[in-house]
Amino acid sequence: MSSPVSSAGAQPQPPFQPRRPAPPVPRSPSRPQPQPVLGPPAPAALFLVVTVPPGGEETVRGLLPDLAGLQRSIGFASPEAALTCVAGVGSDAWDRLFGAPRPAALHPFEELRGPRHTAVSTPGDLLFHIRAGRPDLCFALAAEVLRRLRGAVVVVDEVQAFKYFDSRNLLGFVDGTENPVGQGAADAVLTGEEDAGFAGGSYAVVQKYLHDVDSWEALAVEAQEKVIGRTKLTNLELGVPGSHVEVNTVLDGDGREQRVVRAAMPFGRPGQGEFGTYFISYARDPHVPETMLRRMFLGLPGTGHDPILDFSRAVTGTLFFVPSADFLDEAAERGAAR
Ligand code: HEM
Repeated sequence: MSSPVSSAGAQPQPPFQPRRPAPPVPRSPSRPQPQPVLGPPAPAALFLVVTVPPGGEETVRGLLPDLAGLQRSIGFASPEAALTCVAGVGSDAWDRLFGAPRPAALHPFEELRGPRHTAVSTPGDLLFHIRAGRPDLCFALAAEVLRRLRGAVVVVDEVQAFKYFDSRNLLGFVDGTENPVGQGAADAVLTGEEDAGFAGGSYAVVQKYLHDVDSWEALAVEAQEKVIGRTKLTNLELGVPGSHVEVNTVLDGDGREQRVVRAAMPFGRPGQGEFGTYFISYARDPHVPETMLRRMFLGLPGTGHDPILDFSRAVTGTLFFVPSADFLDEAAERGAAR
């Protein structure tokens, strides 16, 4: 049967490319649009960390302005699932992709070798932090991002993570309670006048932790609660000196709490004995999560390390700068202008 639509004379179609946004409307330089770093905890997440071997830079710069369009294409028909993607760039890759100027506080993640535990530093040129109400949307967006980057990047870590019961980690405790919200979260996370050329950005620390759940579950619940510093069932703060919560309550010289926004998620493969937490924090100044990590791994004068580390081993560790959405829109031009 012949096709009802004649293809005679049809021109070959170019491969599909997502639409790019119209040139940005000029905004006050002090208020660029951030990427979707803030938002309520999502039921599903996918974390991708890739390296960019020499020669892959142009492909990467070509993808970054299209990320928002890909997110819209895949997520538009399921608005209730709130698909989002945040892209971050590592310190070495920044110079190769964009050159100068560079974000003032961007540097490689520093390894912290404590007496018992080490926060390792591992490679990573790009981070994609994809979140949604459904894992299929995270999967579809990751697959499309990697299709676009094929041949230009090497995937060094890929973790599909999930919400577990009522926002618990695989140690069984509610995770994320003390995150700042609203304006407090934006103030804690988004860069501003201190680095005006990169305002609306953020610094992301990622660490993949593997838990020793057998040793953890051998502890009585009261002992677990002392490690975390909260009750297990009801999530009430206990004020235990040396607990994870106490180690991570960091004050500045004026007694103000130094805050980050955490979006850690559980992951694992029970069949492989793998039970983990993918830790990610966003901060306006990477010095804040780095201070927390120092306290956790190196301890404080007179105290030891964070006891959560006796049951949780960090197997990755990388720092990324998450530029504003406006910066990503112009990524190709910025790279070309180098
Ligand atoms: C094994 C990985 C980790 C697990 C399972 C974990 C779990 C938890 C839990 C259950 C809480 C208490 C509830 C809450 O406020 O969220 C908490 C609090 C917190 N954690 Fe972690 N965490 C981990 C790693 C980290 C790391 C690496 C950092 C910092 C770089 C960090 C920073 C914090 C902060 C700032 C708080 C809130 C402290 C406060 O009450 O003010 N956590 N974490």
